[in-house]
Amino acid sequence: MGNPKIVGMAGSFSRPSKTRSLVRHVAELVSGRYGFDIAIYDMIDVGPSLGSALWRKQLDEKAQHVLQELVAADILIIGAPTYKGSYPGLFKHLIDLIDPHELKSKPILITATGGGNRHALMVEHQLRPLFGFFMAHTLPTAVYASDDDFLDYAVASEHLSKRIEEAVSEVDVFFPGRVPTREAAE
Ligand SMILES: Cc1cc2nc3c(=O)[nH]c(=O)nc-3n(C[C@H](O)[C@H](O)[C@H](O)COP(=O)(O)O)c2cc1C
Repeated sequence: MGNPKIVGMAGSFSRPSKTRSLVRHVAELVSGRYGFDIAIYDMIDVGPSLGSALWRKQLDEKAQHVLQELVAADILIIGAPTYKGSYPGLFKHLIDLIDPHELKSKPILITATGGGNRHALMVEHQLRPLFGFFMAHTLPTAVYASDDDFLDYAVASEHLSKRIEEAVSEVDVFFPGRVPTREAAE
């Protein structure tokens, strides 16, 4: 049997991207600690069909693939750049195309980035209720990072690393006692 799979979804359409980098960083830490496989996507991977799709069936193959990966993940790492105090509209549209039951009970580690700290609570006031709708298990610690926490798009601040570490340790509840198999660690 294969390893459980972490799917990281960054709601960003810029590359390089702090959000994508944060999502990857967190996913790699989770993988290193518990031995999961990783796939990371962003809005560029979803592609332009999303903007014109009113219904899921109107998405092209690329976008369908990403949505399928999101709903099939054993654990999701969500990352949203803050736009106007919330997540980007196009990211919400992607999530709107997921059926209500498809994320039920799924462990979700919430992250977000923003230019500053003014909207740090957007992880609690915007992202957490969004996944609460789906009755997903959002982990208690959400991670918010601002521009100052990155150096060349890489996680660089000590306090951010500590916060990430806290969130990563909360994954244990869902996969008790799990450690990397030799194969996953290599
Ligand atoms: C359209 C737009 C709106 C933004 N609104 C906010 C905001 O309300 N609060 C904030 O802290 N940063 C805001 N920002 C800054 C981004 O959230 C920040 O630079 C983010 O880390 C970008 O992530 P990325 O590198 O993944 O694209 C905004 C940026 C854009 C492009």
